[in-house]
Amino acid sequence: MTSIFWAAVGMFAGTVFAADSITFHKNVEPILQKNCQSCHRPGQIAPMSFLTYQGTRPWAKAMKTAVASRKMPPWFADPKYGHFSNDHAMQQGDIDTIVAWVDSGAREGDAKDAPPPIAWPADGWLIQPDYIVKGPTYDVPAKGVLEWTNVVVPSGLTQDTWITSLEIKPSALAVTHHICVSFIAHNPEVKYGVPVWVDKQRDETGSALPRAQGVKNELPGVPGVAKDERELIGARLNPGGSEGCYVPGQQVTDYRAFHAAKLVPANTDIVFQMHYTTTGTPMTDKPEVGFTIAKEPPQRRYISYNSQPSVGTDSAVFKIPANDGNWQSPPSEIFFNEDVQLVWMMPHMHMRGKDMTYNLEYPTGEKQIVLKVPHYDFNWQLGYYTDVKVPKGSKMTVDAHFDNSPNNKFNPDPNRPVFYGDQTWEEMMAPFFGIVVDMKQDPEKVVTVKGGRGRGGA
Ligand code: HEC
Repeated sequence: MTSIFWAAVGMFAGTVFAADSITFHKNVEPILQKNCQSCHRPGQIAPMSFLTYQGTRPWAKAMKTAVASRKMPPWFADPKYGHFSNDHAMQQGDIDTIVAWVDSGAREGDAKDAPPPIAWPADGWLIQPDYIVKGPTYDVPAKGVLEWTNVVVPSGLTQDTWITSLEIKPSALAVTHHICVSFIAHNPEVKYGVPVWVDKQRDETGSALPRAQGVKNELPGVPGVAKDERELIGARLNPGGSEGCYVPGQQVTDYRAFHAAKLVPANTDIVFQMHYTTTGTPMTDKPEVGFTIAKEPPQRRYISYNSQPSVGTDSAVFKIPANDGNWQSPPSEIFFNEDVQLVWMMPHMHMRGKDMTYNLEYPTGEKQIVLKVPHYDFNWQLGYYTDVKVPKGSKMTVDAHFDNSPNNKFNPDPNRPVFYGDQTWEEMMAPFFGIVVDMKQDPEKVVTVKGGRGRGGA
């Protein structure tokens, strides 16, 4: 996800000013343009707009807390590890400026010191898509908590297609919390346009029973899963959002930056995974996904992977005990059978997800942390763009911890064990990642995801 908004604003070096000369227009507005207005403006996901002094002033104290604690803008990578081209962390100097401005009375200053306003893109595409797929229509009610919903639609692509970028475009931004898309092989058992979830048998505490026990009427070829139009589980039917997500400020996945393209095989289906928040006003979202398509044969191939614990996910190995504040999941293990370039990582867990660390071990035995998210927040499905040369013979181990204690304010119920599953009250330990390889390399062979779900799409 290239950060088109944020990159377009340019850079201002953080500077510390004498406190009494700090004003909104001169010192703070440029920082808000660069770091905040992508979300804090009318029609976007943030509940208040920071386009004007009048809109911003009531939030001054909360802003100070939010930036000093680095809660805002949302960015979760530990700065000690890795380098990310879409790094949204604020510069310390900018944080200091906001803090000093608030401490000195949050004054407006002279409007003629204001930077020119940003020309925010109108409600249009950021990429110029060659091909657009309409997603499902989703009616978001005024109130209530909405579960994540998966809907499968046909891609309409009747031949193998190399895409070079992908953009997810909701129509109702104010209620769109996130939308992820993944490609899946067509399965005649899965109906188009029908919201799908996994209907599991539960014990009296509400915990999902181990899959194999709860199943009558099995989905062909997918042991332990019922044949039901609402089912969306199977060898390659992964609704986890491995190709990219729309979260506010990040909606484009662009392989052109790596001179690469991604193969979408003929008749692939697309899963929209949608999560909406209610705002008091009912709204209807009609998300779309747009693609740019390679005009020439691509030189390099982008491949994304879905991963999970290498020992599997059944309840014998993946069970987060009730009230456990720091449960360590069995790791994901990924083996690189050839030289590749690691370009993207997206930790995915649910409400009890606490931290996730991607560790790379080189054939020399040397170890390197390529991404550490010490305080995971399931509200923000952020992808991290990087550029790491991974030699043949390397191994990546991903570790994660979960907090099923009452100290986790998102925890809906600390008093029950939690098992693996797609719903928010269940858990996932799903470190997604993307690599780029040469066209000469065999995409089936370059990487082995042990016990995992393997490649996303193609
Ligand atoms: C990627 C989108 C995004 C960006 C960028 C962003 N915000 Fe937010 N902000 C939100 C959303 C959504 C909420 C409401 C939900 C929440 O609190 O997480 C929010 C809430 C807040 C709040 C409410 C209090 C709180 O802490 O919950 C403050 C204050 C705030 N933002 C300040 C800022 C400032 C200052 C910046 C820039 C330095 C910024 N935000 C950048 C999306 C964003």
